[in-house]
Amino acid sequence: MSDPAVARALRDRETLGDPNALAALSRRYREVRRFTERLCEPLAVEDYVIQTMPDASPTRWHLAHVTWFFETLVLRKAYPDYRPLNQQFHYLFNSYYNSLGEQWPRSRRGLLSRPSVKEVYEYRAYVDRQVLALMEQFSRQSAQVAPIVELGLHHEQQHQELILTDIKHVLAQNPLFPVYRPRPGEESAEAEALTWHGFEEGLREVGHSGPGFAYDNEMPRHRVFLESFELASRPVTNGEYLAFMADGGYQRPELWLSDAWMVVPREDWRAPLYWHEVGGRWHSFTLAGLREVDPAEPVTHVSYYEADAYARWAGARLPTEAEWEDAARGLPLEGNFVESGRYHPAAGPAGEGMQQMYGDVWEWTASPYTPYPGYVQEPGALGEYNGKFMCDQLVLRGGSCATSMSHMRPTYRNFFPAAARWQFSGIRLARGIR
Ligand SMILES: [Fe+2]
Repeated sequence: MSDPAVARALRDRETLGDPNALAALSRRYREVRRFTERLCEPLAVEDYVIQTMPDASPTRWHLAHVTWFFETLVLRKAYPDYRPLNQQFHYLFNSYYNSLGEQWPRSRRGLLSRPSVKEVYEYRAYVDRQVLALMEQFSRQSAQVAPIVELGLHHEQQHQELILTDIKHVLAQNPLFPVYRPRPGEESAEAEALTWHGFEEGLREVGHSGPGFAYDNEMPRHRVFLESFELASRPVTNGEYLAFMADGGYQRPELWLSDAWMVVPREDWRAPLYWHEVGGRWHSFTLAGLREVDPAEPVTHVSYYEADAYARWAGARLPTEAEWEDAARGLPLEGNFVESGRYHPAAGPAGEGMQQMYGDVWEWTASPYTPYPGYVQEPGALGEYNGKFMCDQLVLRGGSCATSMSHMRPTYRNFFPAAARWQFSGIRLARGIR
């Protein structure tokens, strides 16, 4: 294996020649691959193929693309004489934009009626059989590809979240408001009172330094100086956001960033994405259908622009990602993740200290998605999975109700454009201490 990224991963010798580690990775492979398919069980075959916008992909494409990853980066590398199920799949389901080859245009993924959904499931099974056979050889070769299999599983978990957010966008276009998975009605609870937690100024370290898996964008660990700051004890609720709306929040240009104010009138934003006024009351489309907005739940499906405008209206600001990571230090990694089966943010539990830092909603930060100081991109064939930074996207932290808990860690950096609203994105307020 000459790939520098692989070589770097191999410096972690934990899995090399360790049958227990390889067996654990095989088990995890089965679990993650199975979970992807479980997320698709509620879908009708017609649901799999629709693409509603260039940034969202059809479910069928996600299912094939995550499989293409294992085929290309594991099987083709391990077996020089590997025989693909269909040579054309490399073109259709490749997400590389580099020299590895042409790709089917992202915005045209919804124009493909073939391969059929059934054929894509057969493709998954074809690749699964061979990856598992390779892993279960317990050979030096299987140990060498183990770090790439692990990366592929994290990649698949990212796409699991996108399967949920993209299918929500598909179902939301339909005036029948189809239910993905039903959820029992709940009594609305009172939201916990918002309190402020102070953090002392000082030099901190942020970023990943091991052990365990992390993406390249979380490294290197480095120092930052933080002025003293305060962070809200929980995310902003729907009830608080309704007060912003009632105070003319969407009609007051002084609350919005200049570029945001070009978007708000153009897109006619008056409420978060998926909100509908029915009979004078706000409802939101959820994966359990159209439901009345619960004032105690964290507000979600808001853009960075809306999060920033809300914070300004509330006399606060959004945290930087270093502040967020500093505040998350030492907190238990638990929360309303995809495993809860709720697929929607929940009103927070009572408790002291910082609440709901993990799960429920991704929290917008004010930090641009740029490399950390000292970051060096290693050349190699991992394409979009390394060195993929943006000049116009913001970092979000903490995971959501559509994220797998085993995919999350304190240093995880998600990123989306400022106007994106179809992820489960929400708001946590910060403010300086004078
Ligand atoms: Fe991908």
